[in-house]
This record gives sequence, structure tokens and C-alpha cells, in this order.
Amino acid sequence: MTVYVERNINMIRLDKFLSEMGLGTRSEVKKLIKTGQIAINGTVAVKPETKVDIDADEVSVNGRIVKYQRYEYYLFNKPSGCVSATCDNVLDIDTEGLLLITNDGALSHELLSPSKHVAKTYYARIDGEVTWDDIIRFKEGIDIGEERPTKPAELVIKKSGSVSEIELTITEGKFHQVKRMFEALGKRVIYLKRISMGPLKLPDDLKTGTYRALTQAETDMLMQIKSGK
Ligand code: URA
Repeated sequence: MTVYVERNINMIRLDKFLSEMGLGTRSEVKKLIKTGQIAINGTVAVKPETKVDIDADEVSVNGRIVKYQRYEYYLFNKPSGCVSATCDNVLDIDTEGLLLITNDGALSHELLSPSKHVAKTYYARIDGEVTWDDIIRFKEGIDIGEERPTKPAELVIKKSGSVSEIELTITEGKFHQVKRMFEALGKRVIYLKRISMGPLKLPDDLKTGTYRALTQAETDMLMQIKSGK
């Protein structure tokens, strides 16, 4: 027997509504509710689990109306050969790995803007030997032909040899930055994959070319960044 459960997709919990609109993590917005700062249709709301009709109800925070906008967040394991210019201006065609696909412009800005210094970690294979000297050069900053040298980057050597394997964490995201940093040291990146961005990690079980919706825990971590924490 099949049981159909009718759900009103316009109804969502008040704490989820507030968190998705960038007012903080679930526990932070619960505090806003408990301290009487949130009203639904002019009446102070006290329960985080109260259901809100996103089209009909008016939610306000300290008197300021917050309109609901449905945002979607997906983790994509980008294959090489796929252009992603509309959702990420720093990944290039032959770079693989973690990409956040979202219509949440404010969050994208927080994650991708070079001025926000969100850490991004790449796994790379390098043609040639990567040495301890390179670790220091990356830490000190490298001249890649921009106005200023790159900010300190953390290089971890996984394997050093005629082809080396490394992980590099940068906090800027200048155009083709990883390749240009190695080029400046006379070395060539032959494979590049983004494995993390801020709190998001590329899941081991997310096959190249596939995507999945963010978990609640991942969304919560992003909401923390969006609310500027
Ligand atoms: N390609 C690069 O070379 N560097 C980046 O940081 C991203 C894509």
C-alpha cells in the first residue's frame, strides 16, 4: 500500500526561515526568537518550530520585514572540461573538484570574493620536484605579476619526485592562482583539483561529474559565513 502524505511546501519552520535568510545559524536564530526579537504578522513568535507560510506570513526582526527567498545549494564534483564561469570565476576548464552551485548571491560573494580570504585547498600533481624551499616561498608570498605578492599559502608535500603531489591552501582566489604560483617557481601544474572551500569538503563518495544537495550541517556552516561570523 502506498501512503501519500500531503505537504504544504510553502510552510517552513521559523528557525529555518531565519537561518536561510542569513540571520545566523539555527542556534543563533533560536536565541533571537527566545528573546522576543521576531514577530509573525505583528505578533511576537516564541517557538522556533512555528510554521511560517512563506507567501502569506510577514516575518519581521526587530520591526524590519524579512522576505523569504528560496535558495538552493548543491555540491558538484566538477570534471575537467566543464566550464563553470557563471558560478565560480576562479576555477578553470581543466580544474576538477568541489564547486558550490547556488542562487544565493550573498553567500557566493562571501565565499569567493578575494577580499574575504576564505581558505581553499587544492590537491595538485606537479611536473618536477617540490621541495622544502618551495614551502617557504609559498609561506612568504610569491610574485605572480599582480600589484602585490600572494598572501601566505600553506604547501603540504604529499610526495616529492619527478612528478610531485601536493596540497596547497590559499586564501585569495586570484585568476588561475595555483598554476601561476607554481609557474613563478619554474614548475608546472599537471593536474588540479579543489578539495575544500571554507568549511565545505569534497566528499570522498561524490563521484566526478555528480552533485548532491548540501546536508543540514553543511548549510548551517555556510549560514555562519553568510552572517559574517
Ligand atoms: N586554477 C588555478 O590555477 N588556480 C586556482 O586557484 C583555481 C583554478
